[in-house]
Amino acid sequence: MALQFYDLTIASVESQGIDGIALGFDIPKELEGVFAFVPGQYLTLRADVNGEDIRRSYSICSALGAHERRVGIRVLEDGKFSSYAQTLKQGDTVSVMPPQGRFVADIGGKHNYLLIAAGSGITPILSIAKSVLEGEAESQITLIYGNKTTASIMFREELEELKDQFMQRLSLVHVLSRENQDVDLANGRIGLDKLRLMHERGVIEPRTYHGIYLCGPQEMIETCSAGLVEMGAEKDHIHFELFTPADGVGLSVEKRALKQEQAAGDIEVITILDGTSRTFKMDGKTATVLGAAHEAGVELPFSCAGGMCCTCRCHVAEGEAEMDVNYSLESWELDAGFILACQARPKTSKLVLDFDAT
Ligand code: FES
Repeated sequence: MALQFYDLTIASVESQGIDGIALGFDIPKELEGVFAFVPGQYLTLRADVNGEDIRRSYSICSALGAHERRVGIRVLEDGKFSSYAQTLKQGDTVSVMPPQGRFVADIGGKHNYLLIAAGSGITPILSIAKSVLEGEAESQITLIYGNKTTASIMFREELEELKDQFMQRLSLVHVLSRENQDVDLANGRIGLDKLRLMHERGVIEPRTYHGIYLCGPQEMIETCSAGLVEMGAEKDHIHFELFTPADGVGLSVEKRALKQEQAAGDIEVITILDGTSRTFKMDGKTATVLGAAHEAGVELPFSCAGGMCCTCRCHVAEGEAEMDVNYSLESWELDAGFILACQARPKTSKLVLDFDAT
């Protein structure tokens, strides 16, 4: 069955740093299975804000086994969803899609993980860190977390508590770009030079990690991943999740994907979702499949609309299409004919997309 939204009740609302909030959702017994998650996954929240259907993905920050599903949200100036989220209170209901995402860590066994996060990229990383430390008695975690100032650190208290609780197994380094700390290593931004210095000083040892998880802006992920491989990390051990400023890049991407004026087109697109076919016409030059479907009133699953989350993944059953960008499909999926509808532009006069294919 295609992913659908469920109304969940907010069980808790907390401030996190100067501009962050954490929303905790109560999961009714009958939905425990639907909302089961693996540390690192995210939830898609949906709201009608001034008549606009807005969706945003936020990573779960709860540890495995926690009853609530908590997500961390950075509130952005002009952020449509995050501004709305600020008005939410305990007892309100929100439409939430079940957990998704492949930026996951399996829990069980003995691991040595390096986790690197910047800003609100901490949310999936926190879930992984807590789940590993609580669920694997012998595992080690090194967590490097970048922020502007101490005040802007999200989940600061929780991280400190975790450090106190697992003193021998968690090494936590806060890197601040706009506040001076005593240790030079902890000042500035997380990037290649910083990681090299950490390597030289024995804070990290890239060659030894079973898994390296990065969550933050694209530039940080790209430079750090390349640098870590240079320093001996196994490429296959590096996992990353691009952090989308939920209402910044996401909004403009969404505007591009969904709001474009679509020129009349003669390309026939057939979508299959939950066994039901829908047909519409589009022009591949002016719109993506997701944008054209939206204009045509055909509802397709999506979340980020930016090629990052895979919610709109579908199989090309007939015809051909190309993507503007792809940050989430793996090479085997591309080889098998999967595509992201939010990025897809038809190259043939007929395109059949199967959203039920796995
Ligand atoms: S909606 Fe996120 S990748 Fe298409």
